[in-house]
Amino acid sequence: MNYEVRGASSIKGAFEVPGDKSISHRALIFSSLANGLSEIDGLSSGGDVMSTMKCLSDLHVNIEKDKSGVVKVHGRGKYFSGSSDSILDAGNSGTTMRLLSGVLAGQKFESTITGDETLRKRPMQRIIDPLSQMGANIVASYNMTAPLNIIPSDGLHGIRYELPLPSAQVKSSVLLAGMFAEGETTVVEPVESRDHTERILKLKKVKTISGFETKISCDYVVEPVKYDIAGDISSAAFFLGAAAILPNSSVTAEGITLNPTRAGFLDILAMMGAKVEIQNIRETVGEPIGDVTVSHSELKGVEINGSLIPRLIDEIPIIGVLAAFAEGETEVRDAHDLRRKESDRIVAIVDNLEAMGAEVGELEDGFIVNGTGQLNGVEINSYKDHRIAMAFAIAGLAACGTTTIQNAEWAQISFPEFFQILERLTQ
Ligand code: S3P
Repeated sequence: MNYEVRGASSIKGAFEVPGDKSISHRALIFSSLANGLSEIDGLSSGGDVMSTMKCLSDLHVNIEKDKSGVVKVHGRGKYFSGSSDSILDAGNSGTTMRLLSGVLAGQKFESTITGDETLRKRPMQRIIDPLSQMGANIVASYNMTAPLNIIPSDGLHGIRYELPLPSAQVKSSVLLAGMFAEGETTVVEPVESRDHTERILKLKKVKTISGFETKISCDYVVEPVKYDIAGDISSAAFFLGAAAILPNSSVTAEGITLNPTRAGFLDILAMMGAKVEIQNIRETVGEPIGDVTVSHSELKGVEINGSLIPRLIDEIPIIGVLAAFAEGETEVRDAHDLRRKESDRIVAIVDNLEAMGAEVGELEDGFIVNGTGQLNGVEINSYKDHRIAMAFAIAGLAACGTTTIQNAEWAQISFPEFFQILERLTQ
């Protein structure tokens, strides 16, 4: 599907976004591993979370939705009985594949997990390495990619694993496998990544000289929980960003997560000069949430690197768009991993901004944008990447003329309601 966006004079209003994607995956997986009934209110409706739900159903976990939209998961305890489908399909979702691999490594049956064309090209060595060190038996395809064939081993044992790169998916995969491993498993992150797993499982994170350490042991018992999932800041970011660049604009995202390991985008908006107001701070299942209002202001370029990167990794496409409307230079560095996301996001951001007339340069680990305050409507290649499709739809709102987003339907991977909310807020 191609989606046409015309320049808008402003964006205004309040909106709610669906439940956070990262928390939704975890709520489903941890509920399945609990003994008893968990209830999940506000589960993300995106394709990625549906992939996790389908895999768990194929693992004989009974998951149902009631009339009010609450998802009920009848947890089976740590050990599943097998898989009804010989191949589990994680679709486009790296989180599904990496987290579930940690669970499957501890099971007593053989399983195979695969994904779509994009996911089958994404790096899996990062989980195969630690899980193999724990004693798992994983056979990957060419170049350490999926399909992954996970063969029952003689048993897992705990390790101390220092993450070579900050990744919440790898950290969570190892912690999940740690529930099945003899002794204690410790993950150490030099730079903090999103900590939803630790918050939900109530694991203690300790700051040491080598970084942030989290431990889990095989006697860990997952409890059933009533979840009320926080709104997804990564989805809200598109509209908050739009309000920052469009004159006379102000929008409020209600009930989004303010978890400090996720809220780097709000810090960047403020550093760029946008007006950011946070109200009604409250908590839901260990996650701080609040209502965030962003209003237009003149923006200026900023430098983004180091420990800020994991706190806003998924928001970098929309930050690239904001940079085109900021005075001066914006430089994003230390973001190599953007090349291994649903697309090579450095290429996708640079090529599309260039096509719209921006002054932009590609770096090996990021990019530089020299803000000119203007973009032109063109055909945008979404690279079948949800965040690229949505970021450039926002670029289209602020551009002259008409912007066409090719394969815009990929937005449904995380935010099926995106275009509907876009149309409502720009009326
Ligand atoms: C996620 C972690 C991040 C993020 C992804 C979701 C998670 O990936 O980019 O969208 O839910 O754990 P990495 O762990 O690869 O950094």
